[in-house]
Amino acid sequence: MTEIARNMLFEPGAPLRGTAQVPGDKSISHRSLMLSALAVGESHVSGLLEGEDVLATAAAMRALGAQIERNENGVWHIYGVGVGSLTQPQTALDMGNSGTSTRLLMGLLASHNLTATFIGDASLSKRPMSRVTTPLGLMGAEFMNAPGGRLPLTMRGLVPAVPIEYRLPVASAQVKSAILLAGLNAPGITRVIEPVPTRDHSERMLRGFGAQLEVEVEPDGTRIISVTGEAELRPQTLVVPGDPSSAAFPVVAALITPGSEVTVTNVGMNPTRTGIFRMLQAMGADLSITNEREVGGEPVADLVARHSALTGIDVPPDIAPSMIDEFPIFFVAAAHASGRTRTSGLDELRVKESDRLALMAHGLARIGASVEEQEDGLIIDGRAGDPLDGGNSAPTIAAELDHRIAMSFAVAGLNTRSGLIIDDMSPVATSFPGFTDLLRTLRGES
Ligand code: S3P
Repeated sequence: MTEIARNMLFEPGAPLRGTAQVPGDKSISHRSLMLSALAVGESHVSGLLEGEDVLATAAAMRALGAQIERNENGVWHIYGVGVGSLTQPQTALDMGNSGTSTRLLMGLLASHNLTATFIGDASLSKRPMSRVTTPLGLMGAEFMNAPGGRLPLTMRGLVPAVPIEYRLPVASAQVKSAILLAGLNAPGITRVIEPVPTRDHSERMLRGFGAQLEVEVEPDGTRIISVTGEAELRPQTLVVPGDPSSAAFPVVAALITPGSEVTVTNVGMNPTRTGIFRMLQAMGADLSITNEREVGGEPVADLVARHSALTGIDVPPDIAPSMIDEFPIFFVAAAHASGRTRTSGLDELRVKESDRLALMAHGLARIGASVEEQEDGLIIDGRAGDPLDGGNSAPTIAAELDHRIAMSFAVAGLNTRSGLIIDDMSPVATSFPGFTDLLRTLRGES
């Protein structure tokens, strides 16, 4: 592995051994900054992910009137302005690569009396926004200049906004959260009906900040989430756990690399996020969950992963939301298993930072995996522990501005015969600063 982000080579070498810590949870980090900015007074956040996506949220919250500082011990201090009191930004809000920042902020601003323009990078500018602009439009927000419902986009919020009851047409925590955040400053009760449960950090954190929020669960598992508007949020002291989505990379690297044993400490284990670990265990992974505890209202544990003989499985589609960001690295694990792994119900993967089904199918095929791409999933016949093989010279994989594609192929490269090159590792800085250094350290290279 070399230091530069462009054309970085990942090749076979020593097993991975030792203890790793992964950066703070991205979803919780975004919400920490947003909710703290809406509380009246000073909140403190430690363990915040200092990746580009979260820094884009911090910059936006500053532009909207919150004061945000990081002290020398890495604790973030946020001086919030109160629900309904965000102020008009003077320039466009640059969301970089971050879909979560964009969609959640649109929700926040939908019930504020201001106009804001959202811009983003090439990847974000391709992603669909109508999933949030439609319900927020029902609440009274107006959206202008959004060709095809995409960024760049200008919106104007409405005060008072109209509380709505909205049934989610796609399983999306971002859409759910956008509506709940808009509901914070709407008079009355805003209700989101969620037929398929998605990550529930917004619900947990809104309650923690003092909002009146109720969740009813119907016999068929449908969740009805009601938030009472014109809320007053109280400042909090928050501790962000390690991101299970980031932990999945060293875990899978250890599972597929002979001789490896890696412990990842302080990993968030919210059940709406841990589908990947359950599915790896179902494949026979030697993956133990130890030292289970609760930190700041979220379950946390240490994970111990040892090299394992994996067996292909059928992944039930209803588990998809609890491992939605982990499919790229899961596909790498499946390519090493013996037998067939089938996934379905994954249409959402086509509208993430890239079309993850297409990029994973093409990239894995380039390194010799047997992959069939279907409309809503991949079918992978694994190599039963044999290294992947991209031919005599290391092939180049294009990451297409997608951090998780880059990291998944980096891990795959460690288990190929002649390595592979990733054209651009810089997107990894959005969610996992220090990723390549961590791989290097676990392989005893520094
Ligand atoms: C996120 C929700 C998920 C996930 C994204 C973060 C969140 O997106 O893919 O990385 O923080 O709410 P969807 O809710 O659109 O599936």
